Parts: sequence; structure tokens; C-alpha cells
Amino acid sequence: AKPIKVALLGCGTVGTEIVRLLTEQAPDLASRIGAPVELAGIAVRRLGKARPGVPAELLTTDAAELVTRPDVDVVVEVIGGIEPTRTWLIDALRAGKSVVTANKTLLAEHAGDLFAESDTFGGDLYFEAAVAGAIPLLRPLRESLAGDRITRVMGIVNGTTNFILSAMDETGAGYAETLEEAARLGYAEADPTADVDGYDAASKAAILASLSFHTRVTAGDVYREGISAVTPADVSAARALGRTIKLLAICERVDTPDGESVAVRVHPAMIPRTHPLAGVNGAFNAVFVEAEAAGQLMFYGQGAGGAPTASAVLGDLVAVARNLVVGGRGPRESAYADLPVRPIAQA
Ligand code: NDP
Ligand code: HSE
Repeated sequence: AKPIKVALLGCGTVGTEIVRLLTEQAPDLASRIGAPVELAGIAVRRLGKARPGVPAELLTTDAAELVTRPDVDVVVEVIGGIEPTRTWLIDALRAGKSVVTANKTLLAEHAGDLFAESDTFGGDLYFEAAVAGAIPLLRPLRESLAGDRITRVMGIVNGTTNFILSAMDETGAGYAETLEEAARLGYAEADPTADVDGYDAASKAAILASLSFHTRVTAGDVYREGISAVTPADVSAARALGRTIKLLAICERVDTPDGESVAVRVHPAMIPRTHPLAGVNGAFNAVFVEAEAAGQLMFYGQGAGGAPTASAVLGDLVAVARNLVVGGRGPRESAYADLPVRPIAQA
């Protein structure tokens, strides 16, 4: 069968692992998909950087040209940020390409624009890696639970802050040195303020709420507090009370006298040590989903890091490539209930 050609945007922590997995698992992927998957090009910022295992002849700094190249079928984006990434992905979708992205910042602001282009031009849009790293969570929400009515989604969705809070709790380690370690291990965002001030978790909460409640929630709709004000004294006080501190994202359907709305918040919370989330440590994430018919579901796994995130990206790539081989389409997101978002006053 004709190869599926992939343009990879970004070859850092996640992109390097995508190249490794695509190379090592090429024969298995080809048999699972029904066609070989081949890299058509890799867009980076610095051509001179050492990248062991990455074919140098595929590197380019011209992402704009790569995303609309006629031989490209799928664009996989692991650069991050809003612009110029948004423009490149819109151009790719308008050129009929399918898109796989791990970019929660972009999706939490502009998912509506991207879904509209995907619906109009027919390319798939998958983004499992954008929330909770390796954990299969978004496809269960978009697909497996599409027949149910989700009422609440709650959990730990940022690996960096969970890594920091776990270290402060377990060893009394300092905040700054633990953040450095999280960055060294590839968990933190390029600007780790996004992690510690709760912006990353707020973006993820917006994506979770949008998918769960079939409405549009953007990052700005989310009440947000990070962990930068959490001190070792707070952690010890929680311990003395039989509790631990976790940064939680909480997305709820709320019934008000005016009708149904949605409330979304991210903030540190003291939880009892007996609570299942208290045992989620390091860069692990865990998310509880409550749905009317399904009841309670719990999703748990590695929430950050190159290989876990690449696993989720590759799962999406296989789904998209299979659709290209058989002529199918992934889920569309144009039908929204447009539930209002109930504002929570920002502290
Ligand atoms: P890195 O900073 O490690 O890598 C970013 C890559 O993008 C680098 O290869 C960089 O090039 C390239 N890049 C940056 N700007 C440009 C540009 N203008 N044109 C072309 N290439 C550019 O980030 P990560 O791999 O950690 O993260 C990538 C994405 O995945 C982000 O959206 C992040 O939020 C998301 N994500 C990350 C997770 C993680 O655990 N790390 C988990 C889940 C999602 P160069 O190499 O030349 O500098
Ligand atoms: N910086 C993010 C985190 C990466 O720590 O959770 C995974 O999205």
C-alpha cells in the first residue's frame, strides 16, 4: 500500500521519542495500519543541534512549507505555544491533511477554529497527548462515553507540580531544586511558570470540560491557582492532619435556577491520605470521571515525559493513518450544546 507520509513539527523531548518509536516499530505499525508510515520531514528551530537517532536529511526550519507539501498526509505537532503553531495547523487542515497534536495551550484557546477546519476540509484532528500524557483519556471521553452523560471530571493533570508536591511531602525537598529536576526529566513546559502557576492544568481542564460537557470552555474560563504559594510548612501542616496537598482540576455540570451550566477550576487542595489521589505521586496523573450510566471511572498513568507522551501521539497517528487507509473519519466536534460556563471569581 502507498506509504502514509508524516510531517513532524518539533523534535525536542517528545518529538525525539516519536522518531525513535516510529523507527523501532515501523514493521509492526505498518501491519497494524495496513500501510507503512514514513517521515516526510521534521521541522525544528536549530538545524545545528545534535540529535542522535534523528535522520539529519529530514530536518528543516521551514515548517510553513512542510505542512502543506503535497506528499504529506499527516502533520504531527509537538512544538507547543499558540503562534505560529496555530497558523501552521490551520494551513495543514485547509490543505486536507490530518493533524495530531499534543498542544494543550493551543487547544484550550482555539479548539473551535481547528475543529471547524477539520470538519470543513475532512482531515482528522486528534490530541490524546494534550491531557494526562500517556493515559488514554480523551478518546474515552470523545468516543467510549459519547452515549452517556458525564457529570464530573476531577483529578491530577499536571505531572510537574505533582512531582514537586510529592517530593516536598515525601522527603521535605525544596521547591526550586525539585522544579529543576522536573525540567531535567522532560516533564516541565518550556516556560515552567505554566506548570507551577496552574496555566497548564487550566488548559487541560478546559479541554476536559469541553469534551465531557459538549460545550466550549477556554483556558480563561477556568478559575486558576497554582502551587507557587505552597510552602514546606503547608505540606507539614497537611501531613499532621493526615492529609496531603495535590493540585486538582475539577470540571462539573452545575444545575442552577437559570438552568444547567459548567464550572471549571484548578487549585491546590488538602486531601485525606486515604483518598486514592493521595497515592498518585511523581509525574503520574489520575482522573476520575463520573457519568450517569457508567458511574465512576478512574484513569491513571504517566502524565508527562518524552516516551509516555510519544505513546499517546503514536496511538493517535495509528488512528488517523487507519482512517486514511480505509477512508474513515475520526469524531467530529461541531455539534455543541453551548452550555454556559459559570464564572468563579479569580482570587
Ligand atoms: P521541547 O521544548 O523539548 O521541544 C520543542 C521542539 O519544538 C524543539 O525541537 C524545537 O526546536 C521546536 N521548535 C520550537 N519553536 C520552533 C519553531 N518556531 N519552528 C520549528 N520548530 C520549533 O518541548 P516538548 O517536546 O517537551 O513539548 C512539545 C509539546 O508537547 C508542547 O506542546 C508540550 O506542551 C506538549 N507536551 C509535552 C509533554 C512533556 O512531558 N514534555 C507532555 C504532554 C504534552 P529545537 O530542537 O531546534 O529547539
Ligand atoms: N508540563 C506538563 C506536565 C507536561 O508537567 O504535566 C505534560 O502535559
